[in-house]
Amino acid sequence: MSVGELEKKLELAHVKGTVPKVVIPVHFSGQSCEMDRIFELSKEYGFAVIEDASHAIGGKYLETPIGGCRFSEMTVFSFHPVKIITTGEGGMVLTNRQDLYERLVRLRSHGITRDPVLMEGESHGPWYYQQIELGFNYRMTDIQAALGTNQMTRIDEFIQQRHEIVSKYNYAFKMLPLVLPWQHPNTHSAFHLYVIRLKLDSISKTHLQVFEELRKRGIIVNLHYIPVHTQPFYQRLGFKWGDFPEAETYYREAITLPLFSSMTDVQQERVIASVTEVLQ
Ligand SMILES: Cc1ncc(COP(=O)(O)O)c(C=O)c1O
Repeated sequence: MSVGELEKKLELAHVKGTVPKVVIPVHFSGQSCEMDRIFELSKEYGFAVIEDASHAIGGKYLETPIGGCRFSEMTVFSFHPVKIITTGEGGMVLTNRQDLYERLVRLRSHGITRDPVLMEGESHGPWYYQQIELGFNYRMTDIQAALGTNQMTRIDEFIQQRHEIVSKYNYAFKMLPLVLPWQHPNTHSAFHLYVIRLKLDSISKTHLQVFEELRKRGIIVNLHYIPVHTQPFYQRLGFKWGDFPEAETYYREAITLPLFSSMTDVQQERVIASVTEVLQ
């Protein structure tokens, strides 16, 4: 999230009376957004901040682990199978606010409370509960939680391995017509993704050709992500191509290379050789 662009949008929204209630910075690829500056804007314009740290578990911002909520009300994580740690499916919300914690716990289980203080009227007895709002079934099973807590004991090791792989990629690619994943000095990325951007002006191939040539060599590259405002649901809401030019430029250039903590040297050398061959 570009804080400069966010600030411009907020100035405009302030004039139009459309300042959002919530801003959700996404710590894309594992690198934290500039949370201190976003926090300042939240105070100036009066919105809440929820961090999307689906890519960033194990990462740090200003020497503090992501999820500490120093600059936000809540931080959310995803434990989908492709993520740094997984519980099969599911996720986690962290907050320092007692009121939000209690509300989240209630919403997780159908909006039900067993706290007599929150009930309307008298409790009928020890079995009694009340549904005081409409919630969800978002309970994680014990089996999933066991899987997750076990991986959490190894999170630093996983992140360290990712950093080592990233250093090798950065070194191998520094002479190629690519933009490497730039890192803000205040951040320590979890490196969920390693995304390169092609310098298309210096390459005689298209984005699609590079992508396909890598796939043909058996390198499972990917594209994270298609700008969300170009999806039919958001187009029906009135968003158009051109609304977010930086995201669209990114989409025309980005390719995600394989990166996982158990990646071997031989596997990585194969990726490096293929990328070099395709781009040189
Ligand atoms: C940045 C980001 N936010 C949110 C999500 C959604 O996570 P989940 O599918 O676990 O709800 C994802 C999943 O891919 C993601 O990458």
